[in-house]
Amino acid sequence: MKVLITGARGQVGTALTAACTEVGIQHLGLGHRELDITDGAAVQAVLARERPDFVINAAAFSDVAVAQGEANLCYAINRDGAANLAQACEAVGAGLLYLSSDYVFDGLQARPYTEKDKPNPRNVYGNSKLEGEEAVREYCSRHLVLRTSWVFSAEGNNFFMRSLERAMSGQPVKGVNDQISCPTWAGHLAIVCVAMLQQVHCNIEPNLWGTYHYSDRGATTRYEFARTIVAQAVQAGLASETQVQAIESADLQNRAEEARQSVLSSDHLFFTFGIRQRGWRQGLKSALEAVRQGQRAA
Ligand SMILES: NC(=O)c1ccc[n+]([C@@H]2O[C@H](COP(=O)([O-])OP(=O)(O)OC[C@H]3O[C@@H](n4cnc5c(N)ncnc54)[C@H](OP(=O)(O)O)[C@@H]3O)[C@@H](O)[C@H]2O)c1
Repeated sequence: MKVLITGARGQVGTALTAACTEVGIQHLGLGHRELDITDGAAVQAVLARERPDFVINAAAFSDVAVAQGEANLCYAINRDGAANLAQACEAVGAGLLYLSSDYVFDGLQARPYTEKDKPNPRNVYGNSKLEGEEAVREYCSRHLVLRTSWVFSAEGNNFFMRSLERAMSGQPVKGVNDQISCPTWAGHLAIVCVAMLQQVHCNIEPNLWGTYHYSDRGATTRYEFARTIVAQAVQAGLASETQVQAIESADLQNRAEEARQSVLSSDHLFFTFGIRQRGWRQGLKSALEAVRQGQRAA
């Protein structure tokens, strides 16, 4: 089985590359400079040349706050780029795994969101991801849409790294206490993606295609997440005790950041693929270990 990864230098793309290497899956990871998914002709040419069994799209405009002011670019990448990949996959008979987000939901529901709940995005990013999903379903018969939440890793600019860097430089760390979801370590997410593709690849029936949710286990607030990041970083000897402040989304003065509850239920994935959730606190330990190893290598 051969897997092509787009957006391969992002946090999930990097983790996917590592997960494929770990289990010995033939793969080709293309970063933004090697393949721009908004270039339909380039996407078609690469797929016709490489003939992968599966494409995992980890390329995205992923900054929820910045997307509010850059809607055109956000839609070009998250919706039109997804459509390009879906059409090219269909043309060569490849399956497409499209990573999507809890932001397709409005965040107003008290219970966890299942795949049967109606999306109702409230910002540009969420809407662009929903329209990306719709394009994938429309153009590519062999598709998996995998929604996830609050992805973190030792790569790139994410809440975990921003909080850790502040703690390491002795600055107070802030986290909103009115947004609730499940942090998800990119390493766990990548293992899930690979496990899904391996099962689909072995399955004679095409009945595994469709939409699924995966988040690491354990709902929390950004504030509690920040507190745990600092506590584990102190325990790991990466930072000294520092103050963690609870704030509210309204304080962020950003329309994309609202009080919300967007816990995703991963039950459908478990009952279909037998894939269990891993805990985000365990993922946090792994991410901190990756930071430590990066420091040693530097
Ligand atoms: N991060 C989260 O909390 C989160 C939560 C739920 C779902 N997701 C989804 O998970 C997926 C991976 O996100 P991530 O956190 O890994 O994001 P990321 O770290 O921002 O990585 C995205 C990658 O896509 C690349 N990219 C941007 N425009 C591109 C284009 N036109 N063609 C090819 N590559 C392009 C970026 O490269 P440059 O930096 O060079 O532009 C970057 O390397 C996305 O679909 C995202 O929507 C993320």
